[in-house]
Amino acid sequence: MELLVPLVSAFRYEGDDLNMTLAKSEAKILHEKISDKAYSDEELIRILTTRSKAQLNATLNHYNNHFGNAVNKDLKTDPEDEYLKLLRATIKCLTCPEKYFEKVLRLAINRLGTDEGALTRVVATRAEVDMHRIKEEYQRRNSVPLDRAVAGDTSGDYEKMLLALIGHGDA
Ligand SMILES: *[C@@H]1O[C@H](CO)[C@@H](O)[C@H](O)[C@H]1NC(C)=O
Ligand SMILES: *[C@@H]1O[C@H](CO)[C@@H](O)[C@H](O)[C@H]1NC(C)=O
Repeated sequence: MELLVPLVSAFRYEGDDLNMTLAKSEAKILHEKISDKAYSDEELIRILTTRSKAQLNATLNHYNNHFGNAVNKDLKTDPEDEYLKLLRATIKCLTCPEKYFEKVLRLAINRLGTDEGALTRVVATRAEVDMHRIKEEYQRRNSVPLDRAVAGDTSGDYEKMLLALIGHGDA
């Protein structure tokens, strides 16, 4: 699930320019496709994978305000469907990255036998990006600081490296 995210971001135009006309028309397209259950429609994929974060955020906000549901709620018709899960994870990762990564970390740490692959991936890729916000979100959700949770679940050089990347205390 996480593998697709960097792939998707690699093709994404990054910028703050917002075109509200476009946001409205693309919100309408998304709503039509989702209502028709045309989840793998080319246009839907293009909108979700190529628009800038700012532009997609405007589209999704308009979708929510205009059609009365968050797009992720409308994509939950079949909660177990892997493709829909992937679409929801992509949207969540783009619109609220700290919530998305907090969840990946929480599941990795809380699992019986830590998921070191997921833990390494998130810490290594987000350390210089938004670890500060992820830590706040982790503390808020779990009432435990992320560095303490990680220290409790890992050991040796691996633990030291993770803690150095996470940063102790307040980042
Ligand atoms: C905004 O998007 C609409 C619809 O795609 C397009 O016709 C218009 O030229 C765009 N406006 C700007 C300022 O780019
Ligand atoms: C998306 O829009 C909401 C509401 O305007 C805003 O609070 C949030 O910061 C935006 N997120 C991004 C990633 O632009």
